[in-house]
Amino acid sequence: MELIRIPRIIHQTSREHLLRSKSIGFVPTMGTLHEGHLSLVRMSKKENDVTVVSIFVNPKQFGPSEDFCKYPRDIGGDTAKLEDAGVDILFLPDDSLMYPEGSSTHVEVEELSDRLCGFFRPGHFRGVATVVVKLFNIVIPVRAYFGQKDFQQTVIIKRLVKELDMGIDVVVCPTLREEDGLAMSSRNLYLSVEERKAATVIYRTLVEASSAVKNGIIEVEKIKDIMLGMLRSEPLVKEVQYCSAFDTGTLIEPERIKGEALLAIALQIGNTRLIDNMVVTTENGGR
Ligand code: PAF
Repeated sequence: MELIRIPRIIHQTSREHLLRSKSIGFVPTMGTLHEGHLSLVRMSKKENDVTVVSIFVNPKQFGPSEDFCKYPRDIGGDTAKLEDAGVDILFLPDDSLMYPEGSSTHVEVEELSDRLCGFFRPGHFRGVATVVVKLFNIVIPVRAYFGQKDFQQTVIIKRLVKELDMGIDVVVCPTLREEDGLAMSSRNLYLSVEERKAATVIYRTLVEASSAVKNGIIEVEKIKDIMLGMLRSEPLVKEVQYCSAFDTGTLIEPERIKGEALLAIALQIGNTRLIDNMVVTTENGGR
């Protein structure tokens, strides 16, 4: 595996691959890699000639009171996992090269960025959109791979790719879960043993809400009540930021589900913010 730290150099390397008609698959990450990330790598390897992974904890997507400084970092462990997985290039830029002093350009996908997580994390998706566009311009991938756990992020990235005519295929891969259903996430490392147990309420709630929808409950207020009831029954859940059904394209909460919907949850257990989601379809497909 080739390790490249300088944007100009990886850009040049990518151009050489493209000139030789090699397709580049790209997995952008913030490191502390788990099976979820590795499943994206496997998908990229299957679909492309060259797989590039980036590890960059992007300061611009963390709010002033968020966990940028204590976000888990494990470059040694990550490098070994990526070598094992057969990644071709690891791009490991540092802050000063990604954001040289005086950088003043941002990318913002309006409206979508203010909903769900955006409401609780102002500026977060502007930071994500900015770094993703920069990374896409540097790496020049044909396909880029993201996990469904960050559903809103994938909707925003698909939108910016379309509206900025970037011509990149955004591939969304299923959320990987622990045996008890908890979605894999680097932030799970923050949880104490008790909090880790309590966190399974998220998956249980999504399963319950999803079977309610399949059993014909399509009024979003009712679904929300079911979800809130379950989440609030777990004493370690400190704050439920949102839990409801949303339109998968606009992320707006409808009155009733017609066809496909996103069931999504964001909550705080102790000091850890966790998110998860499931896509459901009503039995009659909304007819
Ligand atoms: O999902 C993530 O890990 C990050 O938001 C991303 C896409 C790598 C941008 O920093």
